[in-house]
Amino acid sequence: MIAHTSCKWAGLTVLLLTAASTSNSTTRIDLSVERGQRVYLTQCAACHGPAGKGDGSAAPHMPVAPSDLTDGRTLNPWPDHFLAKIIGEGGGAVGLSPLMPGWKPFLSSREIQDVIAYIRGLAEPPFNPEETLPVPTIRNGPEQPIFFSHAIHAGSFKIDCQYCHASARRSSTAGIPSVQQCMGCHRIVAARGNPEVQKLHGYFERKESIPWVRIFKLPEYVSFPHKAHVRANVRCQTCHGRIEALERVYAETGQSLANDLLNLIGMRPSPRKLTMGWCVECHRTMNEVRRTSAPLDCIACHH
Ligand code: HEC
Ligand code: HEC
Ligand code: HEC
Ligand code: HEC
Ligand code: HEC
Ligand code: HEC
Repeated sequence: MIAHTSCKWAGLTVLLLTAASTSNSTTRIDLSVERGQRVYLTQCAACHGPAGKGDGSAAPHMPVAPSDLTDGRTLNPWPDHFLAKIIGEGGGAVGLSPLMPGWKPFLSSREIQDVIAYIRGLAEPPFNPEETLPVPTIRNGPEQPIFFSHAIHAGSFKIDCQYCHASARRSSTAGIPSVQQCMGCHRIVAARGNPEVQKLHGYFERKESIPWVRIFKLPEYVSFPHKAHVRANVRCQTCHGRIEALERVYAETGQSLANDLLNLIGMRPSPRKLTMGWCVECHRTMNEVRRTSAPLDCIACHH
């Protein structure tokens, strides 16, 4: 009798264990979402609202509106580590308003992951991890006079590259938007409550232009026309990489010792961006594959 029951129990345990292991990952996610909801309702809802719509009781008093966390269009492009940074270190850590406070050490890393799991579930359209942008965890490249983030403007808000770099289609330079163009949005958008946007207002009031640090630069003796490339439908990203994923633009361009050495021993590394080999190799390939007439004569690029 005893043997029988323990046998029955053993069978049940096995059944339960099997069930638990097949649905293990979903249970884990459900638990995380559940814990995240508790964190959300106690710490976040006062500003972001009970349902995440950005309409909490404190919202009307804030100069920068708490984000609508259900808006998948703006939130979905961001990978977890980016959201974890905002929640852990505050909006200021990515150039957003410090009125979004940082929660470390009040929340543990696990609690931050939990609340992210909860927020992901609110998104409309639904969150798909495969569609997040590859935002680097480390910011390379020089610091700029204003923390201008392509990840926010072009990645999250999807402002078109050519909206800001409007001369790319019609002249040789792509152009950087003027302070007036920035103000076209920022007279209203985040006009108060964000020190980085305040810096922009400062340049505007002093009638100064912003001394952006140049990143992609050819030597003076080369002429590069954006116009011809944009009109031939070469995408910006083909040459510049995924700028919309960057918080700070950087580039590895020009000659490199490593490449020179590889060439010397007979290997053929693909040429680094902005070298002559890079221009010429693409011109050759395009002319073969796409029947374009990209120039190979010296004078086309050196005049
Ligand atoms: C004191 C009010 C306040 C509280 C509390 C608060 N936030 Fe925020 N949060 C903001 C504001 C304001 C912004 C918008 C910042 C901006 O746009 O510059 C924001 C932005 C965000 C963003 C960026 C989203 C986007 O699309 O810009 C995330 C993510 C976020 N909050 C998550 C949270 C979480 C999670 C909590 C709770 C742990 C929380 N917030 C608590 C005020 C708050
Ligand atoms: C088409 C509208 C638009 C234009 C043009 C625009 N911005 Fe923004 N900017 C936004 C929006 C939307 C946000 C996000 C605001 C928020 O969530 O609080 C933003 C955020 C910012 C922020 C804070 C976040 C960050 O990126 O670090 C800064 C600083 C900023 N913009 C600077 C600039 C500058 C400088 C220019 C001109 C070169 C510019 N913006 C042009 C719409 C615009
Ligand atoms: C809201 C305006 C805005 C939008 C949208 C925008 N940019 Fe920019 N871009 C800037 C500003 C301002 C700078 C100068 C500061 C910097 O380097 O971040 C810049 C710098 C750059 C640079 C480096 C220029 C240099 O110094 O060599 C490249 C390349 C670039 N943008 C490409 C793009 C591409 C590609 C897109 C679309 C995916 C895009 N940008 C969208 C405003 C914008
Ligand atoms: C075929 C490659 C190629 C394509 C495509 C391309 N660029 Fe460039 N871009 C360059 C090179 C090379 C430079 C450096 C030019 C120089 O120093 O004279 C540059 C420089 C820039 C600069 C800084 C200097 C300037 O021209 O104002 C910006 C901003 C820029 N590109 C944005 C863009 C955007 C936006 C697009 C898409 C609309 C784009 N580029 C498409 C190769 C390219
Ligand atoms: C990703 C491919 C690619 C790269 C990289 C590239 N080009 Fe081009 N280039 C093209 C194509 C495509 C055309 C247009 C051919 C056409 O219109 O038939 C072109 C055309 C040109 C023209 C002719 C413009 C005209 O008015 O006819 C010049 C000059 C030129 N490129 C210079 C450069 C230089 C300098 C570099 C390197 C700094 C470079 N290109 C890098 C693809 C490229
Ligand atoms: C499609 C554009 C393009 C064409 C065609 C082209 N060049 Fe260049 N050239 C460049 C670029 C870009 C650089 C600068 C980048 C670098 O140093 O690699 C350069 C650099 C050079 C340099 C300096 C190299 C150094 O190491 O300092 C010389 C010399 C030169 N080119 C000669 C020529 C001659 C001769 C021809 C014709 C056979 C030619 N180029 C055709 C784009 C071109």
